[in-house]
Amino acid sequence: MKEVSFIPKPYTKTLEKGSVSWQSPSNIALVKYWGKYGAQLPKNASISFTLSNCHTKTTLSYERITATDDFQFEVYLDEKREKSFEPKIKKFFERIEEYVPFLKDYKFKIETTNSFPHSSGIASSASGMSALALCLLSIEKQLVSEKISETFFNQKASFLARLGSGSASRSIEGPLIVWGKHDDIEGSSTLFGTKYAYEVHNIFKTYQDTILLVDTGEKQVSSTVGHNLMHEHPFAEQRFKQANDNLSKLIPVLKEGSVSEFINIVESEALSLHAMMMTSMPYFILMKPNTLEIITRIWRYRKETGSHVCFTLDAGANVHVLYPEVEKESVLAFIESDLKPFCKNGLYITDSTGTGAHKLTK
Ligand code: DP6
Repeated sequence: MKEVSFIPKPYTKTLEKGSVSWQSPSNIALVKYWGKYGAQLPKNASISFTLSNCHTKTTLSYERITATDDFQFEVYLDEKREKSFEPKIKKFFERIEEYVPFLKDYKFKIETTNSFPHSSGIASSASGMSALALCLLSIEKQLVSEKISETFFNQKASFLARLGSGSASRSIEGPLIVWGKHDDIEGSSTLFGTKYAYEVHNIFKTYQDTILLVDTGEKQVSSTVGHNLMHEHPFAEQRFKQANDNLSKLIPVLKEGSVSEFINIVESEALSLHAMMMTSMPYFILMKPNTLEIITRIWRYRKETGSHVCFTLDAGANVHVLYPEVEKESVLAFIESDLKPFCKNGLYITDSTGTGAHKLTK
């Protein structure tokens, strides 16, 4: 599949006015994407669990206008105009215009809400960009005469979402999504995310993710800046190889349900990601003292109880606590008594693997 496959044939239908809505989830990477090139292409393959409770709902209203030179749109978060989101969306529109060439023929209103608090430090770019990409594709579907298969629809949605935010390419489907070309994974692509199609042990089908909110402020260093710092990074090539090797190692682990090996890979990935930040130039640290306190307590609890709980991190201070569903009761009790005191305002969100985005009907 090449980029040109996503350029549509000239539209044969017209649409005057209407709206579409999608709900799209967040995802948590087990093998991390950190470093990109060209048009949002990843330097290594990554794999993530699609989440369920953490999601964005977006309604895209459109009205046909005489085509203008610029994009006409307004963004609303929780019913309030959010001008600060608009430059990022404009950039997204510029990147995808070639693939959805109706953008300048309409005036859009983008209304979005997140299931998690905006200030939670949970990145809304994956769920937000994927929801918007899906809305745009639902409009395109009505402008063409030929039938679009579900496979193509999902691939193009992921392809567009990727151009908004790399990790958003992994939010269309679930529960395990690979993004990036990987020799051991047939059909994997740098252009879009694909469903992990190999055997998965039951234990990984209902995995739990409790997100501990450690720092809810704005990040000091954005992911985009962090990705760019990988260009001159002394350990970059080694890191990209490590990630691809870790993905190879995960294949038998996911099949056999080897949770101990899963823990080794996932925790090492999280710390390697943050090690890249600490060894960039300029260097930076996104973990906070409470991040380390929580990690230490998870390790201690695991040693003392034989639990299979582990952690992963995204590009921030929050901790994702991962564990099998059978341990839900005990791990939640541990979180409540031992980890909650290290969360900002005692806040955490319980989540689990999900199946991906879905269209909303009014
Ligand atoms: C650490 O997808 O947020 O969460 O492509 O610049 O929008 P952009 O970056 P983004 O990077 C996410 C990085 C990560 C790891 C991951 O999700 O794989």
